[in-house]
Amino acid sequence: MIFDTHAHYDSSQFDEDREELLASMREQGVGTIVNVGASYESCFTVPEMVQKYPFMYAAAGVHPDETGALNEETFARMKEQFQKEKVIAVGEIGLDYYWDNESHDLQKKWFIRQLELARELSLPVLIHSREAAADTMQIMKEYGRGLGGVIHCFSYSKEMAQEYVKMGYYIGVGGVVTFKNGRKLKEVVAEIPLTSIVLETDCPYLAPVPFRGKRNQSGYIRYTAEAVAEIKGVSVEEVIRQTEENAKKMYGLA
Ligand code: NI
Repeated sequence: MIFDTHAHYDSSQFDEDREELLASMREQGVGTIVNVGASYESCFTVPEMVQKYPFMYAAAGVHPDETGALNEETFARMKEQFQKEKVIAVGEIGLDYYWDNESHDLQKKWFIRQLELARELSLPVLIHSREAAADTMQIMKEYGRGLGGVIHCFSYSKEMAQEYVKMGYYIGVGGVVTFKNGRKLKEVVAEIPLTSIVLETDCPYLAPVPFRGKRNQSGYIRYTAEAVAEIKGVSVEEVIRQTEENAKKMYGLA
């Protein structure tokens, strides 16, 4: 069944029909969803939310855009959240030089601290990196070795994808692979083995074609899987099966 490795159902875009939509996941072929925290607040609301749904797990972490909320006290309180059941990864964490919401130094500081936290807790990491390829790679080489996890919503070159794969990381592939202008990601998918790919929505964002621009949801991963299947020359079923196996391994659910 479909494993959505990266979703944000705590978004207000789901406020009107969250229950109904999540109740339809099974019939849409979705077996597992990991709801990922991004803001400091979400590190508290997301672990709470997933307790209600047997097929959902949580990741807790502070997105680079939100690192202004962190200090020693809030960091310690966030850390406590990992004692909750079903909190299975640290994320999303990383660097974002596109929005450039916080200084690069601050982003780097909390990225490193959260990588160290993952090591302490023996949990995989979910990496967000936008227009920060070189700095992310440098920090991952220094602090991320052997942690395991995914470079989510991968937007860099196939050479860099190979480098992460060699380091034992998975490459997160979402709706962009169905876009006409998604050539770079298609090349990445062609380059790396299917055993190193996990599927994701990043919903409510980045819906695949034919829903591009609309609200995304985990059932639409089928279209992302179809695009991957076409590139790889295998069946959609095989893509869904292998990426589910990969995701379970990555999150330690196998
Ligand atoms: Ni995300």
